[in-house]
Amino acid sequence: VNGKVEIPVVVNVLYRTAAENISDSQIQSQIDVLNEDFNATNADYNDVPALFSGVKANVGITFVLQKIVRKSVRTVSFSTNDAMKSSNKGIPPTSPSTVLNMWSCNLGGGILGYAQFPGGSLATDGVVIDNNAFGRTGTVSGVYNLGRTATHEVGHWMNLRHIWGDATCGSDSVDDTPSHNTANYGVPAYPHYSTCTGTPVEMTMNYMDYTDDRGMYMFSNGQKSRMAAIFISGGARASFGI
Ligand code: ARG
Ligand code: ZN
Ligand code: CA
Repeated sequence: VNGKVEIPVVVNVLYRTAAENISDSQIQSQIDVLNEDFNATNADYNDVPALFSGVKANVGITFVLQKIVRKSVRTVSFSTNDAMKSSNKGIPPTSPSTVLNMWSCNLGGGILGYAQFPGGSLATDGVVIDNNAFGRTGTVSGVYNLGRTATHEVGHWMNLRHIWGDATCGSDSVDDTPSHNTANYGVPAYPHYSTCTGTPVEMTMNYMDYTDDRGMYMFSNGQKSRMAAIFISGGARASFGI
């Protein structure tokens, strides 16, 4: 991924209550967050500790809001079964081979969001974000109020794994991110040491950890390469033509 790489975005809003019908400005705030976080223009990028200054990345991907689709539904809360993407209970994705589809809906069970990795069915491709974690204004609340759930989910959509590799001292298949014991929550004090091999300082401020939104503010160069790889010829998202 070199130069200016643009990804068209369609936002699908499912609402039962008026509050769930999030405003255009709340949606735009999410696009703004994605553009900041993927272009290293987020205000907290400068808070990355010196230890990681050599690996923090400007991913260089721009998101362009193309369309907002809204639908009134009877569903009280959705789950991770993709019902929000069906024509019956939800809104099917728009041009998923060339567009990043996002869904805002009420997710139950404390789920903030979920994503489909590259290589899955086009009919369910995209990311889903709970309406109270979508963007950084309007109905967002609590510690997931800065739009970083979408940054994290779009990371998955671009093939990034959790930084702890979903296992104790597991691997995210990225060389420049340290081994983490497990997921971190809240906002860990720096430095937070791993007990994995080599006892490295954990990169708790990485978007692919599980901290509060204000605790995450960087991708690494290795993550950038992994994301770029899916868009090149032969990659799982080569159809985006970027
Ligand atoms: N639990 C979700 C996932 O694994 C999202 C976590 C997002 N974290 C955040 N601070 N917004 O994909
Ligand atoms: Zn995740
Ligand atoms: Ca790693």
